[in-house]
Amino acid sequence: MRFADRMNRLKTESAFVVLAKAKELERQGRDIIHLEIGDADFNTPSLIADEAYAQMKAGQTHYCPSAGLLELREACCAFLRREGRGEYKPSEIVVGPGGKPFLYYVIMAFAGEGDEVIYPDPGFPVYESVTLYAGAGAVPLPILEEKGFSFTAEDLRSRVTGRTRLLILNYPHNPTGGTLARKDLEAIAKIAIERDLVVLSDEVYAHMLFEGEHVSIGTLPGMRERTILLESFSKTYAMTGWRLGFVACPEPIAQKLTQLVTNSVSCVAPFMQLAGAKALLADQSESRAMMEDYRRRRDLFIAGLNEIGGLSCKSPAGAFYAFPNVGGVPMSAEKFADYLLEEVGVATLPGSAFGAHAGKHIRMCFANSVENLERAVDRIAGAVARLRK
Ligand SMILES: Cc1ncc(COP(=O)(O)O)c(C=O)c1O
Repeated sequence: MRFADRMNRLKTESAFVVLAKAKELERQGRDIIHLEIGDADFNTPSLIADEAYAQMKAGQTHYCPSAGLLELREACCAFLRREGRGEYKPSEIVVGPGGKPFLYYVIMAFAGEGDEVIYPDPGFPVYESVTLYAGAGAVPLPILEEKGFSFTAEDLRSRVTGRTRLLILNYPHNPTGGTLARKDLEAIAKIAIERDLVVLSDEVYAHMLFEGEHVSIGTLPGMRERTILLESFSKTYAMTGWRLGFVACPEPIAQKLTQLVTNSVSCVAPFMQLAGAKALLADQSESRAMMEDYRRRRDLFIAGLNEIGGLSCKSPAGAFYAFPNVGGVPMSAEKFADYLLEEVGVATLPGSAFGAHAGKHIRMCFANSVENLERAVDRIAGAVARLRK
């Protein structure tokens, strides 16, 4: 058997690998605290689940247009307008099974052999993996702790070449929790316009912003026609397992992405789409309460981590990850992540799972109960104390 060459270039998302390992340890009777995957301990608000169930019973269980039901695409437009994130028409919205498939579709649509994609490093691993799979050059843009988990316009400018097709931004940022302020976005927009770049703006954590305001780059002058805004229901509405997301972008791009939906998954289940419309249009108080709760958990968890000698953790401006520097622990971050899982039952991810520029960090998702977060801090503190003895 011989696989296509491109399969050798495809990487993985370690969160799912560690999740499988941690679940196996659990099955063997170990008590594991799961901080490895970006998922909430909240369930989807019941008004959304009830809507899906009602629509399923009402027969919304057939194929539907690949771009998505008009009801949901109209709701996406209303949602983005309400949040000041741009004026879009339903023909500029494409619905898909989660946000992730659009990373694949957009990279496949814009980058091929001889092209280059610039993406944040550390960053969501799929950016690099799919870029390489597409046969394009992967150009990491370092997101460094010493730069406040951000980058300068010069950092970006020096990486743009005549072959750059796509710039991927992610803010608030997984895994560092950094974000981009309006002035940063203006500097990025200037470069994107000058160098005629398409920007994939991954804004799936837009609602998890604890400091400052979220500005969608597509709202800046000259950016709408070159921006693909990515949103997802996963994080904002605790709907990770549903698999529902969408993009807002100019119509010619929407048409190409729709073609990719048709060629891969056909469409998203219509009962889910109608529940998604409900999520966007109904009372947002449950989602807001979850986001407020994440802030409390962040404060508690980061304070706890910073009391452990050998660890230092900046408070993330957004998203739900702690990304401490573990340079003071006498082993590599990779070995330390293994040690935490195997010796004290805390599942985390090493920074290297997100690229080459975060080798001294580990990532932990704090969307967990206060009790578990406190237990995790105690266990990590005990582990570090033993290692540093
Ligand atoms: C930065 C980023 N983008 C996109 C996604 C994809 O989310 P989903 O496919 O669940 O919508 C994630 C999930 O963790 C993420 O962290």
